Formats: sequence, C-alpha cells, structure tokens
Amino acid sequence: MKIGLYGGAFDPIHNGHVSMIRGALDSGVVDIVIVIPSARNPFKPGRALTCAPYRYYMVKDVIEDLFDDDVFLSDIEFKIEGISYTDTVVDRISDPAYISAFLEEQGISSKKANASHKFCWIAGSDCLESLATWHNAASLVSKISFLVAFRPGDDCDIPKVAKETSDALGIPVDITTFDIDGVEIASSDIRRTGNFDGIPKAARSFIDEHDLYEACKILEDCSDDACKRFTDAAIWMYGYLRKKRLLHTLNTGLLSAYLAKCHGADIDKALIAGAVHDCAKELPIEDQERMAYARCGDLFVDEKLLHSPAGAVFYNEAFGEEDPEILDAITYHTTGRGEATLLDEIVFLADKIEPSRTYTDLSVMRKIAPTDLDGAARLCLESVVDKFKRKKRPVHPLTEGFMKYLGMQ
Ligand SMILES: [Fe+2]
Ligand SMILES: [Fe+2]
Repeated sequence: MKIGLYGGAFDPIHNGHVSMIRGALDSGVVDIVIVIPSARNPFKPGRALTCAPYRYYMVKDVIEDLFDDDVFLSDIEFKIEGISYTDTVVDRISDPAYISAFLEEQGISSKKANASHKFCWIAGSDCLESLATWHNAASLVSKISFLVAFRPGDDCDIPKVAKETSDALGIPVDITTFDIDGVEIASSDIRRTGNFDGIPKAARSFIDEHDLYEACKILEDCSDDACKRFTDAAIWMYGYLRKKRLLHTLNTGLLSAYLAKCHGADIDKALIAGAVHDCAKELPIEDQERMAYARCGDLFVDEKLLHSPAGAVFYNEAFGEEDPEILDAITYHTTGRGEATLLDEIVFLADKIEPSRTYTDLSVMRKIAPTDLDGAARLCLESVVDKFKRKKRPVHPLTEGFMKYLGMQ
C-alpha cells in the first residue's frame, strides 16, 4: 500500500488539517493516511502544547466522525522517549512488524497489511523549505518521499526548493505536490482568540466537554517542573487507562490546580495529585489489593475503593513520588477523612465535579467551589451519601469522619 504519514501537534485539529488529509487522499498518491499527533514539545516539556492524550483523543473523534476506512490514528509518538524527530518516527512506523500489526488492528486484511508498503510524508510547502535542516535529513530523504500541499496563492517554488534540498543533502528528494483549498487557519490563533469556528464539529464537542482550553490556562500558574510531570504522568497513564477515565483523571488535575489557586493551596501538588488520582483504577484487582494493603493495611476493603490507596503506591513506584500531601490526597480521594487537608478536600471535590462529569446536576457545586470549598464539598457529600443509601451500601467510616469534619453531623 501507499501510506501517507501526517504528523503534527493538532492543538486543536482544524479544517486546514482536514483539508490536507482529504487532499492527500484525493491526489491518488496515497491509499491511506496515518495521522500522528506529537507527544511532547522538546523545547518546553509540558508547556506550549496541550497535554498529549487530549490532542490524541480529539483527533480520534474527528477521524471517526469525518472519515471512513482510509484514515487512521497512531500513538507511536507516545512510545518514543525524549525528542521524537521525524526520522525516528518514520523508522519506527515503517518497521515491517510494527506497520503490519498496526494495519491489522485497524481492520485491514492480513494480506494487505503484510504486503510491502511505500511511505510518504505529508506536509505543507512551508515545511519543505527547511527540510535540509531537519534532524538526519539525508537519512530521512533516502527512505521516504514527500507529498506536499500547494495552496492557492502559495509562492513556494517547489522545483527550486527540491533542487536546493537535493544539492544540500547530496541525494535526490522525491516530491509530489497536490492542490488543496486555501484554508487560512492556524491552531495558535484558534487558541489565542478562543474562536472555534474553523474546527470540525467533533473537535468542538470535545473541547466543550472538557472545557479544554479554559481548564488548561491554570498551567500558566504551575511551575515548569509540575507541567512536565503532568505530561509525563499523562503519557504513562495512557498505557493503563481507557479514554474516558484518562481524560477524567487529567481534568481532575487541572481543576484541582485551579481550586488550589482559588483557596491558597499548593497549585503544583494539586495538579499532580488530581491528575493521577485514578491511575490504578484499571489495574487487575489483585494488584490493587496488594498495593492498597501495602499503604493502608485493611482500611480499604471495598473493591471500588481499593484504587485510591493503590494509586498512591502505583504512582510512587513509577515516578518515586514521596510527597506525603500528594500521596494522601490520592489515597483519600474516594472517601475523604476526618482532619482532611486542604489538598485532600480539593482533590475529593474536583474528582466529583470536573467538567466531563454528568452523573447529577453539578451546577451549584461548580459555581460555589471557587469561593466556598467547604460548602461545595458538603453538597457533594450529601449527593454521595444519598447514592449510597439508595444502593444500600454502607458509608465508609472515613467518609463519616470527613462529614463530621465539615460540620455535617
Ligand atoms: Fe477514583
Ligand atoms: Fe476519579
């Protein structure tokens, strides 16, 4: 098959990206397109780009909404440590074992998936001008061709640039062009203006559901180190949590950081504790039991609660996290506790009211949380206890302690 690779930040994915994909397919040069969202910004880890799983799943929603069986999404960049140069990405994805398994996973027949493939890199003409300076450019050019979009009004002299690049690298560069509609749009402008008119409907819904770009503004108040740890944890959890839960736990991190800012708690600690609070929730139950016991003995026995203390152990084991406030906030996020710390209370509440939660009417809790944390936590506890009573489940003694602490009993 002829496979077009289309990499980028997609922050957010917009109609210009969609028209590139359509144009590449319509050109007939490629049979399918694999979209490859970047994982990290090498120069500003954790900053400048919205955390990778958000962008990845936003692109996934758009592909599922707009394309059939000729556009696929790859998470290959999540698996590359450090800086993922185009050359590295192409090497990994064109590995015969990787690409045949990937295509089969997407539903392509085994015969087609295991045939030999030709790869080309899809890019705008502006990228082409700097090609000779890309990392390992000669090696890259020797193994891949380029499919370059030409927009109306583009003043790039492609044959001239191709010759200059070939001369500079000492090998011929294989470039084919295709025409696309002139969609004048840039992700950075969309983020700056908050005008989402130029993005696909599915991306708009995704942004609304997670209040994405508003929620991410709190990262400007967090330290560089915390932003990097947030991104690292997100990419790590991508391997352990499914879409909905991963995005929920990340949303909780961002909201916890915001509430920490409102109430004078440590913003960095809130970001991390909130972001990883559910990291252990999809581990096998025996692992959760072992980890929960290691942290709290048999304080938590209910299967639904095990992931709280287990999460503290799992995150500690993966990243060496030793901060007792962070580990406690993860441990007690489902139950609360008497003498809860400010951080415990923030993560407990953020978990229940982050933007993608819809289990009950959360509008009042969300409205008052920035100014009246205890009031919002009390409302939240009332609804939790109500649910327990309806399901005839006992309220955990730690939750009773938390309610007493908040003056509810
Ligand atoms: Fe949880
Ligand atoms: Fe949660």
